[in-house]
Amino acid sequence: MNAVDAQANAVEVRGLNKFFKAHHAVVDVDFDVPAGGSLGIVGESGSGKTTIARMLVGLERPTSGTIAVTGRDRSRPARGARERGRRARELQIVFQDPYTSLDPSQSARAAIEEVLRHHGRDLSLTQELVDQVGLTERQASARPRDLSGGQRQRVAIARALAASPKVLVLDEAVSALDVSIQAQVLNLLADIRAETGIAYLLISHDLAVVRQLCDTVLVLRRGRVVEQGQCERVLDAPAEDYTRALREAVPVPGWSVNA
Ligand SMILES: Nc1ncnc2c1ncn2[C@@H]1O[C@H](COP(=O)(O)OP(=O)(O)OP(=O)(O)O)[C@@H](O)[C@H]1O
Ligand SMILES: [Mg+2]
Repeated sequence: MNAVDAQANAVEVRGLNKFFKAHHAVVDVDFDVPAGGSLGIVGESGSGKTTIARMLVGLERPTSGTIAVTGRDRSRPARGARERGRRARELQIVFQDPYTSLDPSQSARAAIEEVLRHHGRDLSLTQELVDQVGLTERQASARPRDLSGGQRQRVAIARALAASPKVLVLDEAVSALDVSIQAQVLNLLADIRAETGIAYLLISHDLAVVRQLCDTVLVLRRGRVVEQGQCERVLDAPAEDYTRALREAVPVPGWSVNA
């Protein structure tokens, strides 16, 4: 890592826009995630949160604007396997339901090894990752169908960490879990951030989750930033009616599920 990267924000987004046909899903969005910091993105269903995450990870191409991760631009598609690999080592994402992304025939351990191998990392790190996400030996040998939702999410987190990223994007990563399991996974994520200095971008419809894990928060409405700042300021004393309404909305199960 050179001196420039050491100074750089983990993520810098400027003037980000995404049009889907006639629909303007993301409108002139700016934000930073400091190295080792943690930004939450909140907003009602359809406000553009996942679209931002998909652009960060390269699953969707911005219509305009720039995205830099650890100081390196990624607004254009990666050229070749080398650059794709480097981008994957800079930023990883965990979605709401890891069931669809886990290979049903693969044990948790094999799934973690696969990512280590892909990134040319030492396979002996597998055990470290298994321990880090709190999977037991028996769970590490189990296939996805024999794991609970919380355990599968731990496997997904271990796989993301196996790439040794600087940034972890969590898109409703704990939303599908029971409250007590959710609390365990949130504690795990807080511990991992303290241990590794990895930066988080956490997308959630649940402001309590954001408050627990994030330093700063960005409020999104119809693709636009309504307000952003320190969690205590924005969530405890919102400047905007929209944020106040979000805060007062009672979470409804399934509310944030993508249409
Ligand atoms: N591939 C696509 N083609 C057309 N429209 C899309 C596409 N992906 C997303 N959209 C639209 O863009 C808007 C933002 O969607 P997005 O999934 O980013 O919302 P979200 O904030 O993540 O919502 P949720 O809380 O329900 O997950 C929605 O109106 C959605 O219908
Ligand atoms: Mg979404």
